[in-house]
Amino acid sequence: MPSTPPEINSPLLQKRIDELSLITEAEPPVVTRVLFSDSDLRGRQFVRNLCEEAGLAVRVDEAGNMFARWEGSAPDAPAVATGSHIDAIPNAGKFDGVVGVLGALSAIEALQESGFRPMRSIEIVVFTAEEPTRFGIGCLGSRMLAASIPLGKVRGLRDPDGLTFDELRARAGLRGALESVALPKGFYSAFIELHIEQGPLLEQENLPIGIVQAIAGPSAYRVRIKGEGGHAGAVLMPGRHDASLAAAEFALAVEKGALASGSPDTVATTGKWEIFPNAINSVPCDAVLEIDLRDTCLETRERALMLAREASVEIAARRGVTITWDEINADPPADGDPRTIEIAEDVALQIDLASRRMVSRAYHDSLFMARVCPTTMIFIPCFKGYSHRPEEYSDPAHVAQGARVLAGTLARLSHQPL
Ligand code: GLV
Ligand code: MN
Ligand code: MN
Repeated sequence: MPSTPPEINSPLLQKRIDELSLITEAEPPVVTRVLFSDSDLRGRQFVRNLCEEAGLAVRVDEAGNMFARWEGSAPDAPAVATGSHIDAIPNAGKFDGVVGVLGALSAIEALQESGFRPMRSIEIVVFTAEEPTRFGIGCLGSRMLAASIPLGKVRGLRDPDGLTFDELRARAGLRGALESVALPKGFYSAFIELHIEQGPLLEQENLPIGIVQAIAGPSAYRVRIKGEGGHAGAVLMPGRHDASLAAAEFALAVEKGALASGSPDTVATTGKWEIFPNAINSVPCDAVLEIDLRDTCLETRERALMLAREASVEIAARRGVTITWDEINADPPADGDPRTIEIAEDVALQIDLASRRMVSRAYHDSLFMARVCPTTMIFIPCFKGYSHRPEEYSDPAHVAQGARVLAGTLARLSHQPL
């Protein structure tokens, strides 16, 4: 076991992050890599090649989750897992997810070069569809690994073009049973994910490392509003049942419901709108909204939801429209594992990196991995907290420091007694 975590080859890690960012459906520097798109498939191949060059054994499950294994001296013992995702939402940057995948590979390579020999195997997981872009639901791969989504629901998913998950994974050559994806009990001894913070706190507090003690529970709802359309000039104002105005009032009520909780951890966003027929001279007859509601506390999240539901009943009655709700997902929050958190903190301390414990308000595959093994995350600062936009940026020194803390933590977890 190395006494201090080995140094990371930072220029090589940066070069790989840059190269992967050029595999995109958008014009660089914008990154867009939607699940099972050509760029997602090419990105997977890019990562696969690097892992194989590092001597890792790569396998892919039937959902497209990719695993790259550094075999330990106790190959039958539960392995230590790390990793993240490489899919990217439209108009994204190059660090979200990628730092956790390529940073993990750099961590393993640094350990290899230091002469470290793992006892428990160490495995990088590249999760399928952490982002909800294609199917409207996030963390699809890790949900399936943790058996946290009924497979009937997965088979019923449709992308905006009407394509199913089965049709799309077949394009990636995956045609086997999805039943095989769920991890056997005790498969991993721990999971630790390196990620940019996606918030401003570390930067503001001038801290290089955050250790995640809780991940907020996300929920999402699709709300359909049916009103009555008509000619924008001819339908008089008093007789209108304008779906888009009902939607506008409803979105404000969603905001009010979240603010009423009094907790900064209750956050609600009405980020997706479809208005039909979406024409200037037509009274909108239909609106479909998607609401993202999150909290570290289930009770306050439920209360915000209840307030939004009550408001929707009132708005529907007053405006003469119908409002119906579908739940997309409603996931509980997750706690970081105290022991794994302590190890990561101790490794940071060992190399004089100050750290703080923090909450992840974004969701991550760690939310679902926490259901199958002790889990935490290592956060690094990012410029102004920017994420999900092309300006997303993390200083190379911070990326390397995060990967180094990851390397030290993986080494210790790998030698945890059987
Ligand atoms: C993940 O990308 C999230 O929306 O939190
Ligand atoms: Mn993201
Ligand atoms: Mn991410």
